[in-house]
Amino acid sequence: MKKLVLIGFMGSGKSTIGELLSRKTGFKFLDLDWEIVKREGKEIAQIFKERGEKAFRKVEREVLKELLERKENLIIATGGGTPAYENNIELINSKGTSIFLKTDFETLWKRISNDEKRPLVKLGKEKVKELYLKRLSFYERAELKVECEGKGPEEVAREITSKLSLNGATDRTSPKGQEGQT
Ligand code: S3P
Repeated sequence: MKKLVLIGFMGSGKSTIGELLSRKTGFKFLDLDWEIVKREGKEIAQIFKERGEKAFRKVEREVLKELLERKENLIIATGGGTPAYENNIELINSKGTSIFLKTDFETLWKRISNDEKRPLVKLGKEKVKELYLKRLSFYERAELKVECEGKGPEEVAREITSKLSLNGATDRTSPKGQEGQT
């Protein structure tokens, strides 16, 4: 069973592109943050506030592991920090296909700076930029890296399905004579 795992900083469009990919492939879409909220019965910001980021990262790891073990084809949108903690990037790469949605920091900041639901945004632009720079080396370990700057979600989703040969099929097997093509 395939797992396509979207990684990238806050605001990079993981959920939007995940939904589009789900429609194109027929794979179910799951959002890691939302699965955490469901399991804990609390918003992410509330978990950060009451139990701290460290506790959040533990839950995040557990839920990620559980999703990657499911016996179904899935598109999973991770949280912006997911690949940078608890060896999660190794886990993701061992169980699925990681896809990095690459976007410039200034574009991301414009999208996230007014979002109250993202607790880390409160740290301010400089600190958030530091986080972004620190995380790039984790994101860069993705199997597929997609440049998203200047592109709409539909274009990005199309690029992904084409690069992974996933166009319009739930569980596509290579047509005869096409094996080995990328
Ligand atoms: C976080 C990103 C959030 C969420 C939490 C922490 C991060 O997800 O997991 O607020 O560390 O960057 P999004 O990338 O979906 O905003």
